[in-house]
Amino acid sequence: MPEGKAVSQMFAGIAGRYDVANHLLSGGIDFYWRRVLTRMVKAFGPKDVVDLATGSGDVAFKLRDRLGPDVAIKGLDFCEPMLDEARRKRSQHANYSTLEFSFGDCMALPLPDDSADAVTISFGVRNFEDRQRGLKEILRVLRPGGNLFVLEFSQPDRWFRPIYYFYLKYILPFVAAIATGDKSAYDYLAGTIENFPTKEALGEQLKLAGFETVEATGLTFSIVAIHEATKA
Ligand SMILES: C[S@@+](CC[C@H](N)C(=O)[O-])C[C@H]1O[C@@H](n2cnc3c(N)ncnc32)[C@H](O)[C@@H]1O
Repeated sequence: MPEGKAVSQMFAGIAGRYDVANHLLSGGIDFYWRRVLTRMVKAFGPKDVVDLATGSGDVAFKLRDRLGPDVAIKGLDFCEPMLDEARRKRSQHANYSTLEFSFGDCMALPLPDDSADAVTISFGVRNFEDRQRGLKEILRVLRPGGNLFVLEFSQPDRWFRPIYYFYLKYILPFVAAIATGDKSAYDYLAGTIENFPTKEALGEQLKLAGFETVEATGLTFSIVAIHEATKA
């Protein structure tokens, strides 16, 4: 697992170009993935949501659009330059003024026990220094009956893997180098995706951390999956 400090420094280095690189490298399909995620959160009907590893805040903004002004939404991240991006974007839209963005490390969340109806985390779990520790922290802060929604890269359908891995190894770092000026950050990304567990394996890890029920939905040939996990 990557060391937290190194991950935070890596994101600090690309914070200003993260959004553009993200949309470019995914061909814009990341908008669709976040739409599905926020639709699932809305169906759950929380009164408050914490978006962990919020980065430049795109999930938090989408949650505000989808859930309306009465749901409290807080974004936490351990990389201040990424949070600065989120705050800069928040200042451009009156609708987002009530979103809170603050420092928080998923290895030791600055939140009380049983304090959130729902937690979202999009493309963050993969970077955890200690995945079990992070998942147990999330379980701690959720209220009983609360739900965690994890949007993360997964292992794509078998027939699609050769094309996908070719893209990750040879095309993505090249395009990323041009878009962000930092090829190494995306070499790292390709490496972590290849090592990411299947839907079933991540489901087991969530249960091992103490979640009671886990349901996984694959999207786009299972390039990514959303795991919905409930605290008893
Ligand atoms: C790939 S970005 C995802 C950002 C955003 N959730 C999105 O979907 O665009 C990963 C983010 O996770 C954050 N991160 C990684 N490990 C973390 C941890 N242990 N605690 C808090 N933030 C973390 C990084 O700083 C970075 O902003």
